Amino acid sequence: MNLQSALEFSHTVLSENVGLGDTVVDATVGNGNDTIFFASLVGKTGKVYGFDIQQAAIDQTKQQLLLTGLQAQTTLICDGHENIAQYVHQPIGGAIFNLGYLPGGDKSIITHGVTTLTAIKTLMLLLRRGGTICIVIYYGHPGGEEERESVEQFARQLDQKTYNVLEYQFINQVHTPPRLVVIQKR
Ligand SMILES: C[S@@+](CC[C@H](N)C(=O)[O-])C[C@H]1O[C@@H](n2cnc3c(N)ncnc32)[C@H](O)[C@@H]1O
Repeated sequence: MNLQSALEFSHTVLSENVGLGDTVVDATVGNGNDTIFFASLVGKTGKVYGFDIQQAAIDQTKQQLLLTGLQAQTTLICDGHENIAQYVHQPIGGAIFNLGYLPGGDKSIITHGVTTLTAIKTLMLLLRRGGTICIVIYYGHPGGEEERESVEQFARQLDQKTYNVLEYQFINQVHTPPRLVVIQKR
């Protein structure tokens, strides 16, 4: 078996921990790949909340959801993930972030450490036992290193009695291959 990329491995982890009927959050909708993945995973009895600050990303993902028949269980919100607490009030089984900029989009619109951490902390308060947050970190762009460092530093100090935390990364690849940080409530 080939080792999975950080993104592939995030889906593997989430598939094991999220199921039909769960509520989940896609914190960075972008082109909607993770939103669609989540919508299939939780099914019609579940709920996916998706956040992005770019209206174009929300609109395009809405179209994809309509085409794939997955719109019923999905609510897309054009707002920053730092405001998740205003919209999500029930326990969640999982969440995903793809940090960085939207591939094929405006590279100057990036996620930022401060708002990313606000969102992670909000989601941690909503996590049910066994619930899992996957943070796929792309950090090769200006500002990416700072965000990666702040997320890793935060994750490293979480109490192991309450959270299982891991980082998945290829250590022999050139450039800056994405890393995956997973936070799971025990
Ligand atoms: C790497 S892309 C996401 C890719 C996406 N998961 C996909 O499947 O295509 C990062 C996205 O985060 C969005 N973003 C940036 N800051 C944000 C914020 N504060 N809240 C929510 N989304 C944000 C960007 O607009 C961009 O679409």
